[in-house]
Amino acid sequence: MKKKLSIDNLKSYKNSKKIVMITAYDALFAKMFENLADIILVGDSLNMSFLGESDTVTATLSQMIYHTKAVRNGAKNSFVIADMPFGTYSNKKTALKNAVKMFQKSGCDAIKIEGGVEKADIIKHLTQNGIAVCGHIGLLPQSVRGEGGYKIKGKNEIEAKKLILDAKAVEEAGAFCMVIEGVKAEVAKEVAKSVSIPVIGIGSGKDVDGQVLVFSDMLGFFEEFTPKFVKRYLNGADLVKEAVLAYKQEVENGTFPSQEHIY
Ligand code: KIV
Repeated sequence: MKKKLSIDNLKSYKNSKKIVMITAYDALFAKMFENLADIILVGDSLNMSFLGESDTVTATLSQMIYHTKAVRNGAKNSFVIADMPFGTYSNKKTALKNAVKMFQKSGCDAIKIEGGVEKADIIKHLTQNGIAVCGHIGLLPQSVRGEGGYKIKGKNEIEAKKLILDAKAVEEAGAFCMVIEGVKAEVAKEVAKSVSIPVIGIGSGKDVDGQVLVFSDMLGFFEEFTPKFVKRYLNGADLVKEAVLAYKQEVENGTFPSQEHIY
């Protein structure tokens, strides 16, 4: 069985080992990922893939606590990061109150919050009060309504400079790592080089310190759309549908249950 990684282990991977992060939303899948991934992220993307909402903005704290607890129960030896949902860290006081609630009720190891320079004072307040924080810069899914869509970042000099400032601010505020999402690969590379904590990419090329993917995307369970940056390692939905079709046919033609499945 794998030994649970510490924040120091994860920080030491910078420039030596690529960090493997994957999302999970329940105990069943978390258990399968436990010995394979370095970090399990309970992302608020579950609001889309599992709740069927159109974005992450409507995710709630109690929903995130419920799913994080399930992941914790399924993967006791994994380093688990929980997403703090939109609106739960809008000022220092609210952020600390909600982060403490998340820590105490879910058993997570760290929380993730979206934002760079503009969230630095909140990250600092959390880390100074014993909350381990993973930052999230670049494309911020919780700001998608405010920005009018999912927009790739780092497309010009101004955006590239802002991303480097964001990364530095997140690091200086005490975060132990950060996710960088939807950033041009050459800019993400410079961002990763500009800080001494791991920068874990999603849709941001390969020259960063690790990768994160949403498990239901990379295993082909989420069929709505597949973003360009997602590689499908399994056609999960097709396999599930084939199995359920076989079950349906056997129930209808009376071959299930057969003698071996009858008491
Ligand atoms: O919610 C999520 O799954 C995430 C990843 C996209 C990094 O934040």
